Amino acid sequence: MSEFTLPTDLKSAKPAVGIVLGSGLGGLVDSLDDLRTFDYTTIGGLPVGRVEGHAGRLHLGSLGGVGVAVAQGRVHVYEGFTAREAASMMRLFHQLGVGTVVLTNAAGIVNANLKPGRWMLISDHLNLARQTPLTGGPHFVDQSEVYSPDLRNLLRAESLELNGSRLVEGIYAWVNGPEYETPAEVRMLRTLGADAVGMSTVPEAIQARALGMRIAGLSCLTNYGAGLSTNPLSHEEVMDVGQAAAKQLFALLENAIPAMVEI
Ligand code: HPA
Repeated sequence: MSEFTLPTDLKSAKPAVGIVLGSGLGGLVDSLDDLRTFDYTTIGGLPVGRVEGHAGRLHLGSLGGVGVAVAQGRVHVYEGFTAREAASMMRLFHQLGVGTVVLTNAAGIVNANLKPGRWMLISDHLNLARQTPLTGGPHFVDQSEVYSPDLRNLLRAESLELNGSRLVEGIYAWVNGPEYETPAEVRMLRTLGADAVGMSTVPEAIQARALGMRIAGLSCLTNYGAGLSTNPLSHEEVMDVGQAAAKQLFALLENAIPAMVEI
């Protein structure tokens, strides 16, 4: 028995790549060819969230000539969902036959050398929320290469060709939220080796890895973490910067996705 009950039109879809869009990044959807949209509420078994900027729609279409499923809106542990629920989209992608996932998010800067408005390729993560989608199994899944080195190489090369600059790469720390960090917490995260901090993605990455999918993770650095700048943090700022950076993401993925399915 499959976990999710699919609307008829979705049953025949065979996307090769699954993409999850973080806060403010929904604009990418406008550029998909052959777009078909499914409200999360039409997919049986999928949890539905309520956060502003997370609309809760699954888009099927084509990007750079490759079939993609794009999840606009995710559910978070800070809304009261379990880590397993927060990772549902990965199990749905797997059910649809997706082999490669691209996880995007908005994140705060912990490493003061990084710049707001830029994208950071996730090289590894810190699961500081200490929750996992794998409580019910499978157990003891290897985590030594969660974010595919091949996909990272490819995205780095595409970014260099496209923008003439290397994508920065770093460690993403998952914290529970929903409040932003204190300055002391941001200093602690840096001491622990984090470059960026956010409230999502890690449960999905753990789940996708356990299902044998290849993963690329990209953080949109929307703001300096608390204490690294004098500005107070706001959700509006996070959304605005995300929207401005969405175009860069689209250009990068449009170029990289055809190659991603070949390696
Ligand atoms: N902290 C945690 N999560 C975030 C931030 C932040 O500063 N910015 C965007 N998501």
